Amino acid sequence: MNLDRKDFLRCVGAGALGALALPSRGSVTVASEPPLPAFSSGTAEGYWSAVRARFPLDPGLAYFNTGGLGPASSPVLELFTRTMMAHQRISDTGFEGFAPARATAARFLGVSPQEIAFSRNTTEGNSIVAAGLRLGPGDEVILDSHAHPGGSFPWYNQAKARGVVVKLFEPDPATAAGNVERIRALVTPRTRVIQVSHVTAPTGIVMPAADIGALARAHGAWFHVDGAQSAGMIRFSVRDLGCDSFATSGHKWLGGPHETGIFFVRKERLDEVSPPEVGAHSGRLPVLPGVLHYSPTALRYEYGTRNAASVVALAAALRWQEEIGRDRIEERGRELSSRVRADLRAIPDIEFLTPEAPGLSGSMLTFRTPRMPFATLFGRLEKGYRIRCRPVSEQNLNAVRVSTHFFNSPAECDRLVEAVGSILKEA
Ligand SMILES: Cc1ncc(COP(=O)(O)O)c(C=O)c1O
Repeated sequence: MNLDRKDFLRCVGAGALGALALPSRGSVTVASEPPLPAFSSGTAEGYWSAVRARFPLDPGLAYFNTGGLGPASSPVLELFTRTMMAHQRISDTGFEGFAPARATAARFLGVSPQEIAFSRNTTEGNSIVAAGLRLGPGDEVILDSHAHPGGSFPWYNQAKARGVVVKLFEPDPATAAGNVERIRALVTPRTRVIQVSHVTAPTGIVMPAADIGALARAHGAWFHVDGAQSAGMIRFSVRDLGCDSFATSGHKWLGGPHETGIFFVRKERLDEVSPPEVGAHSGRLPVLPGVLHYSPTALRYEYGTRNAASVVALAAALRWQEEIGRDRIEERGRELSSRVRADLRAIPDIEFLTPEAPGLSGSMLTFRTPRMPFATLFGRLEKGYRIRCRPVSEQNLNAVRVSTHFFNSPAECDRLVEAVGSILKEA
């Protein structure tokens, strides 16, 4: 397929994974992807096998660590390398690939393109909020104690730099309302920010973000959501969360290339978050000296030269999830997670740290056993069985986390459960 520049823009704005990027002053020849078979519940496994066949993942590896780093599909990776090569051939920035990608990211998250900046990862988005809000000594920030270092360190950094006070609540695995109440108990007149992991990294608890957002609003606090584990795993609209800012990674559940992320700030509040890094894309200052005017949009958070191919490829990954169906992807991940849980129950001494209620969990399942330290179990699964989970050392939880995404299969889940059974039998 040979596309000219106009076709490219149309494709990236409206096409499928076969929508292909071009450099600004050239064209590129690409192969189109054979379509997936039509989905029907009777032939669902065939459909999911076709999905799996699009991932370059080693077929001998049972990969259950999407929460750590998700694989990208071959078409996304091919688009990434092809686009990058095309840009390199004429040494072009490919900058015009950003606008259609931004429109796709905005649609996917349910917000407007003016509120979206492309970041390198969730940590960068979280860090922009922590550094950008104008907080001072004694201002209080409430976080979940299960926050990933990419969510907590930016605030502890502000504790060192500006005397911000970090207050932690322990996520409640029992009820959604319990989480709201635990946060409410920490709110004081000095509370300036409430941040939650939308889905907690160590134990996969889904936070009642909209209710927490209402609480934050009632107290005039900024509400930031760390969506590293939610975007691409569960379906939601960022607008419905009622948050002021949201950060996620492209390289986890969304299936984008490494070092991609999406950062959102509500347009009415953009001026409250100073961009910690600025450069040519962030605003205007045509003649020095003068006053720097930020871009009126979230573009202010993008600064120097970037690899446009990664943004174009991330947008293609989002479009692919939309085509497959975000509900269908969520349902598949949950179904596989429930299968693992149900089968692990047959093994003595397994304790689940992830709640079972659908409103409180998604496609991550964390479990532990008093019969073996988590690091031993994790290591044996990896070395003895080629099964990659994630060790959970946070807060001394001593557990193993299993992420099930749309490329995983029931057979891999069964292999995991059998391996856990065998390892623990020998313990
Ligand atoms: C909740 C949460 N926030 C932030 C991060 C950091 O993600 P990244 O390394 O993509 O910035 C992770 C990574 O697992 C996470 O689970």
